Amino acid sequence: MIAYEKADPSYSLEGKTAIITGGAAGIGFATAEFFAEKGVNLILADLNKDACGKAKALGAKNIGIAGNVCDAAYRTSVIEAGVKAFGKIDILVNSAGIVALEKAETLSEDFWNRTISINLTASFMMAQTFGSYLIGHKLPGSIVNMASQAGTIALDKHVAYCASKGGIIAMTKVLAMEWGKYGIRVNCVSPTVVLTELGRKAWDGPVGDALKKEIPAERFAEPDEIAGVIAFLCSKAASMITGHDLLIDGGYTIK
Ligand SMILES: NC(=O)c1ccc[n+]([C@@H]2O[C@H](COP(=O)([O-])OP(=O)(O)OC[C@H]3O[C@@H](n4cnc5c(N)ncnc54)[C@H](O)[C@@H]3O)[C@@H](O)[C@H]2O)c1
Repeated sequence: MIAYEKADPSYSLEGKTAIITGGAAGIGFATAEFFAEKGVNLILADLNKDACGKAKALGAKNIGIAGNVCDAAYRTSVIEAGVKAFGKIDILVNSAGIVALEKAETLSEDFWNRTISINLTASFMMAQTFGSYLIGHKLPGSIVNMASQAGTIALDKHVAYCASKGGIIAMTKVLAMEWGKYGIRVNCVSPTVVLTELGRKAWDGPVGDALKKEIPAERFAEPDEIAGVIAFLCSKAASMITGHDLLIDGGYTIK
């Protein structure tokens, strides 16, 4: 059962421990910064060789482990290192991801597979590894997966990306359904374009300018605007929210 938690006006996460995949850059790092401010112990899991340095910059006790989330042994080692360092882990944020831009008729099988493998398969396998740890130790927990507006609407040259993010939304709902009885909440967030390396790669230039005009907020998102929502979803204030896809799109998808 997901326990009732009295609403907490401070949205506190003090003393919690979180794994953030893709935590060395972009939305993942912004979430790490936000979490650090809220007293969360951090385990940053990222391909970036400086994952450890990035973690330590946010607090001496934090750890960073460089590696590939597509590798099963790496995923297990992240959980083991986190438990060794902090005793237990409460939160998983699955932020590692890539984008491959190509017309559907010419997208290579290799690019399709890489996108699905990193964005969808590795997010599920990381959630499975973390979920099994929580269930095995009878611990409650919260998982936030990174979907996208691309999981709900079609975007030109984004066929693999859209498929991976639609998969994240579906996967999130099933995990929430299956794991509610263990006290594990599973949600995802769906940002519009966020001003990170990945966001700029896809949307810098005239195509992005045209998209921006369609967003009621009349701008793209900054990474910390996603981090704050992820923190809310992990807090007691969201104790009755599970299986939800929270759009953070400045109103883009309401039309
Ligand atoms: N930026 C956007 O416009 C936007 C919008 C909606 C959703 N998203 C999603 O948010 C997530 C984060 O995107 P971002 O904009 O912060 O990207 P980013 O490129 O700024 O950061 C992604 C991080 O993930 C890491 N990473 C990539 N592949 C990895 C792997 N196999 N193993 C471990 N680490 C890996 C990278 O090293 C990098 O540090 C992605 O899932 C992305 O699809 C981004």
